[in-house]
Amino acid sequence: MADLNHPIPEVTTIQLPEFKGTPFHNPLAENSGSLKVIEPCIVVIFGATGDLTARKLLPALYNLAREGQLPSHFACVGFARKQKTNEEFRQQMREAVAQFSRVKPLDDKIWEQFSQQLFYHSANFDDPNGYQSLKSHLEMIDQQCGTKGNRVFYLSTPPSFFPNIIENLGHGGLIYNVTTETKKWSRVIIEKPFGHDLESGISLQQFTMNHLAESQIYRIDHYLGKETVQNILVFRFANSIFEAFWNNHYVDHVQITFGEEIGIGSRGAFYEEAGILRDIIQNHMMQILSLVAMEPPTSLDPNSIRDEKLKVIRSLRPLDLSHFSQYVVRGQYGPGYVNGQKVIGYREEANVNPQSNVETFAALKLYIDNWRWAGVPFYLRAGKRLPKRATEVAITFKEVPSILFARRSKTHENNVLVLRIQPDEGISLKMNTKVPGPSSPIQPVKMDFRYGSYFGLTPPEAYERLICDCILGDGTLFARGDEVLASWKWVTPILERWKECPPSDFPNYAAGSWGPKAADDLLAADGRMWRLL
Ligand code: BG6
Repeated sequence: MADLNHPIPEVTTIQLPEFKGTPFHNPLAENSGSLKVIEPCIVVIFGATGDLTARKLLPALYNLAREGQLPSHFACVGFARKQKTNEEFRQQMREAVAQFSRVKPLDDKIWEQFSQQLFYHSANFDDPNGYQSLKSHLEMIDQQCGTKGNRVFYLSTPPSFFPNIIENLGHGGLIYNVTTETKKWSRVIIEKPFGHDLESGISLQQFTMNHLAESQIYRIDHYLGKETVQNILVFRFANSIFEAFWNNHYVDHVQITFGEEIGIGSRGAFYEEAGILRDIIQNHMMQILSLVAMEPPTSLDPNSIRDEKLKVIRSLRPLDLSHFSQYVVRGQYGPGYVNGQKVIGYREEANVNPQSNVETFAALKLYIDNWRWAGVPFYLRAGKRLPKRATEVAITFKEVPSILFARRSKTHENNVLVLRIQPDEGISLKMNTKVPGPSSPIQPVKMDFRYGSYFGLTPPEAYERLICDCILGDGTLFARGDEVLASWKWVTPILERWKECPPSDFPNYAAGSWGPKAADDLLAADGRMWRLL
């Protein structure tokens, strides 16, 4: 098996450019002393006719335009195989934005202006001539829109095209050498999954490094762009009271849940290749876990934060393969009911093998072998077609010594701090109080903070924050290569074990339930239960 002997990538240094656009504040970088200014640029989206472009990327760009957060000299070019004119592309994107933008209705005046900066370029991803014509097309747009040669290339295609596109960008002279004296920059955003196991992750990493410096690569994990995920850092390190008990002296265990009501919808072909371990746990959940468990970084610069996250993933105790089932559970949904609606099982979904062994649910118990977390179990579960959409981190604190209250029938519960990532974003703390009255029983109550009611605004979509950060050259909220590979290193033995031992009981949970019984047994073996959400 390949190992992780690759150098720590160099630090991205942002030069202070001339002021040309709107000043933009990254709350995590506010105290870092660096003022970043948004520069003119063109964003080129590869896979412009795909689902992600319509649902997320164009609505994000439109909302950034609406809020005045795009550079004043800006253009976006959709790159895809299908032939179409700029006008056709604009019209399709208009419909997409009207349907998927978080702010509705679409503002015609803003759209009119924004759409003039939208262009389309048709070519095959593996055709070098298509990149030569793209180069000329972009230079022409530079003249027309004043975008000064700066480029963001967004790879939103199936992962198998990534090497081809990167190679063609490199050979086509569209990637600038970072060491050459030039004011122009080029950056590449790569959608997940970055590889499909450790070996392929390493080869993709080596391949990209042949054409790009680490500071030019932005591996997107949109969970890092969510306000509530960013707030984990602020919550932990801007409040002295929490940090004091954020360790194995006080924490009993941590549960991280990612639940979705939806099934795999039209993404059968993708899911058959991926499964939930690759789709959610290797990236989104590992990112959340590392933010919850990391040590305070020495500063808020991207590499300090990413160094600390990396240490967490590298401290994960390798799985005990001889007791595998005590640590790992997998599941696949069968037919069932979600929100009172009858839904089909995974094996009946379009583009799914009727005998598929791909998992749509996984539960894990893991340990972080460092001083802070020694002995504290972290339980992770992720599933499609669960009863509700809910992503949260729940930190359960140890019980009080059973001297005072245990003599009565036990009504008090452990304190639990919950960081609700979505929906109903917020933070709650469960604590025990005396019920008024002479018999003074104890009752757990909840202190609850809700973003929506407190701040009264819809937070920006993760993609808005992340695209903007990439234009600014701020990689804090993107995954670094060594983080991604460390995560693959931990996850790959599970994939290998699953491949060696196909499941005999799939489907093993009904759509609309909280996963297979084995997931409950995983916690029951430790005298614990999953939280009821
Ligand atoms: C994507 C996964 O990365 O995240 C999907 O590929 C999942 O399977 C989605 O549904 C969830 O994102 P969000 O932002 O809706 O929680």
